[in-house]
Amino acid sequence: MDASIFCLCVLLGLGMFVWSLFSAPRKPADAVRLVKSSWKRLTEGEEFTNTFYSDLWGKHPELRKEGAMFAKTNMKSQGKMLHKTLDFVVGSCDRLETILDKVKELAIRHVGYGVDKKEHFDWVADSLLFALEKDLTPKHFWTPEVKQAWIDIYTVLSGVMWTTMQKEINAANKSVSGKKTQ
Ligand code: HEM
Repeated sequence: MDASIFCLCVLLGLGMFVWSLFSAPRKPADAVRLVKSSWKRLTEGEEFTNTFYSDLWGKHPELRKEGAMFAKTNMKSQGKMLHKTLDFVVGSCDRLETILDKVKELAIRHVGYGVDKKEHFDWVADSLLFALEKDLTPKHFWTPEVKQAWIDIYTVLSGVMWTTMQKEINAANKSVSGKKTQ
């Protein structure tokens, strides 16, 4: 074989190997492992939930206005509930199907709180990632892989919540329009 063709084949082979490394689909198990291990590395106490709500309410002050969904919310008690729920979700994230009913119940309660836009979930995602990045220790533990793992888990969770909520909102709208036409 001609030396230049041989070199070309070697280069092509190497290129394909490197490409396959980066394009290999990440296993869900990796996301689960990274989310679980990073959750353990959050600073103790209320710092994480305080950072989360300060960021969310700071960026979207309309959520705290008179009559708005978080107008009367106490950061401390709300933070405890959020932390407990996230603890439960993270603990079960390798078998999310077993907590589907609980997630759906949480979603339906959120319709009652006035959450009615998909965008609300994007705002929460932003502040969740911000709080994780700020309160994970040591700092170097916040890697692009850890961030992506949280995005993956949150996407599944918020996807289930939002689908459930849409069904609930649609059913409520139908029953209102049904009553109007009677
Ligand atoms: C994965 C996403 C979310 C999780 C895990 C979560 C979790 C929780 C938990 C545990 C509570 C405590 C009450 C309960 O258990 O029903 C709560 C309340 C609440 N959440 Fe969420 N939530 C999420 C998304 C959102 C979004 C997107 C919004 C809107 C921006 C939102 C707004 C609220 C409000 C307004 C309350 C009630 C506050 C109060 O009673 O003062 N949540 N959430």
